[in-house]
Amino acid sequence: MVFKEIKMDSRVTRWNSNIETGIPEIDDQHRRLFELAASFRGQGDEIRIMKSLAILCDYAKVHLREEEALLETIGYTDLAAHRQAHVEFRALLRQLLTDATHLSLDEIATRVESLINGWFYNHILRVDAQYVPAVAAYQNYQQSLRAGRRNRRLELGSLHFFEDAKASPPEPGSPPEIPPQPGQASSKAQANHADEHAERNDAICLEFSSGNYTQAQIAEHFGVHYSTVSRILKKGRRRDIA
Ligand SMILES: [Fe+2]
Ligand SMILES: [Fe+2]
Repeated sequence: MVFKEIKMDSRVTRWNSNIETGIPEIDDQHRRLFELAASFRGQGDEIRIMKSLAILCDYAKVHLREEEALLETIGYTDLAAHRQAHVEFRALLRQLLTDATHLSLDEIATRVESLINGWFYNHILRVDAQYVPAVAAYQNYQQSLRAGRRNRRLELGSLHFFEDAKASPPEPGSPPEIPPQPGQASSKAQANHADEHAERNDAICLEFSSGNYTQAQIAEHFGVHYSTVSRILKKGRRRDIA
């Protein structure tokens, strides 16, 4: 995508909600740059102005670097074009620092306003605004991954619940189970066992597919033999393929 050329607006604009991206760290940095720019007008001390100018330029460069890092992290497809716009901004900052040595304090204040409240305002409004949906999509995706991991932990937790339930005595007043024939488990016990095993096997497959644990670690966690885990995983793979 090629960004529309940013036409320099002769008007200077204060920071306002029209240029909020909704990304807290980016909005804080943008807002800070406008605050720094606003501090120039009316300062009558040349040393202080030059110091403020150096701080503003450094902070702007930090912002550009962090914004580019964020876009790189999310795999933003228009990063190259965005970087190019930042190259232009860095050149304008360098030019201002050079020119400032022979400008009056009022002229410096005017140039800072033109750069931040003009060029930079338009950049946020027209160029930064374009990455907002991509950042939001990335953050939603990360959130869903975290929720998935939480659910997997809950499933493991439910297995512990099964183990705890087995260790607990039956509730007083609960109907007595018909005693099984010698050498034969009751049908209820068989059904419970099958459920527990199915749930445990699913959890084993899920944990292994997360890539966070080895088969040996999973075997130790579930208190089963390594070969049992291997058999369950093979069975799970066959079921996935079928
Ligand atoms: Fe920005
Ligand atoms: Fe930007």
